Amino acid sequence: MDQYIIVGVVGSGAMGAGIAQVAAMAGHQVVLYDNNATALEKAKANLTQTLQKLQEKGKIPSADDVLNRFSFAGEVSAFAKCGLIIEAIVEKLEIKKAVFADIEKNVSDTCILASNTSSLSITSIAAACSRPHNVMGLHFFNPAPLMALVEVIPAVQTNPAHIQPAKELMQRWGKTPVVAKDTPGFIVNRVARPYYGEAIRMYEEGIASMEEIDNAMVQSGGFKMGPFTLMDYIGHDVNYVVTETVFLSFFYDPRYKPSFSQKRLLEAGWLGRKAGRGFYNYNEPATDKIVDNSNNTQIVERIVAMLINEAVDALHLNVATASDLETAMTKGVNYPKGLLQWCDEWSAARCLAILDGLYDTYHEDRYRASVLLRRHAKESKRFL
Ligand SMILES: NC(=O)c1ccc[n+]([C@@H]2O[C@H](COP(=O)([O-])OP(=O)(O)OC[C@H]3O[C@@H](n4cnc5c(N)ncnc54)[C@H](O)[C@@H]3O)[C@@H](O)[C@H]2O)c1
Repeated sequence: MDQYIIVGVVGSGAMGAGIAQVAAMAGHQVVLYDNNATALEKAKANLTQTLQKLQEKGKIPSADDVLNRFSFAGEVSAFAKCGLIIEAIVEKLEIKKAVFADIEKNVSDTCILASNTSSLSITSIAAACSRPHNVMGLHFFNPAPLMALVEVIPAVQTNPAHIQPAKELMQRWGKTPVVAKDTPGFIVNRVARPYYGEAIRMYEEGIASMEEIDNAMVQSGGFKMGPFTLMDYIGHDVNYVVTETVFLSFFYDPRYKPSFSQKRLLEAGWLGRKAGRGFYNYNEPATDKIVDNSNNTQIVERIVAMLINEAVDALHLNVATASDLETAMTKGVNYPKGLLQWCDEWSAARCLAILDGLYDTYHEDRYRASVLLRRHAKESKRFL
């Protein structure tokens, strides 16, 4: 993709504004479109403030230079000269399909249309277009200007020749691209599910408290944030909905089954930190609870073994290459190390023993080990 293409961004919310900022800072002319004039005004004011701060900190030479590359639009006709358009509107398939079909009528035959969707099928979005070979997923992480990872997702219909140029463009934007198959949750939102689901499961069973699980994953696991703190930070409106979407999209595979504890939080409006209350109550002064750490090893082993199993199974099913799986989990969700590396360090046999132990205890399909993990354990093989 040409370094000088004009980039269009659809939706000026959290993600759209962030992606537009990244493209403009990389030197592109950017057309930012939203059908809500108030949202667009807000995005313009926020971008101005952010770029001025970056200039004050010496991170960019001139905020005005970057701002001058922007045009703000309330009509899709403004996209006419764009070579790449990235969509980041509301996560509803029917709305995305209608917007793609509409935009396509206003752009050239060669314009690439990308979606930033977290959980919808790129193939089904492409199917709404008359040039589905020009459609792909470009999945950024929040906040887009700071998070390096971008998942590049070819739809079934995407012209394979578009993938390498898309990766190169992302690299020019300072991003780290990985390629993911168009499967539910792509890489990160699929492989990370047990970090939340298995933590909640242990808490529901009374194996450990939320504080103990959070403490174990940070102190002994090396993760930046414990699962309950992280879910409260992401917000249950986002985190629960992704879990439910992944579960439904995987034809009710019990590995991804959502929990009632989290569903009830959503129903109560206890959305997490932004609502003042989620798993934890942020309206109360923080107390220094004494946390029992005698179960740390058991907690870390159970959650990490489940994560490793997801990564290994994603590799087995060709969702991504081993190296892209490692990059995705370290750059997209800042895991302390790649899960395949973790498996090699623990040995496939040890990971398998943890999973088979859980399977023997629960007799639930949720704990079935990937056949690839079983094979590696049998042959004492490493992944990397
Ligand atoms: N928030 C995240 O952490 C995150 C991370 C990665 C991907 N995503 C994905 O990015 C997309 C946007 O998420 P967000 O958090 O930025 O949402 P948001 O609610 O902050 O912003 C969405 C924007 O789209 C606009 N919009 C809605 N319908 C539109 C239409 N028909 N035409 C034009 N504009 C329209 C809205 O006015 C709003 O400004 C979603 O698909 C989401 O799944 C979100």
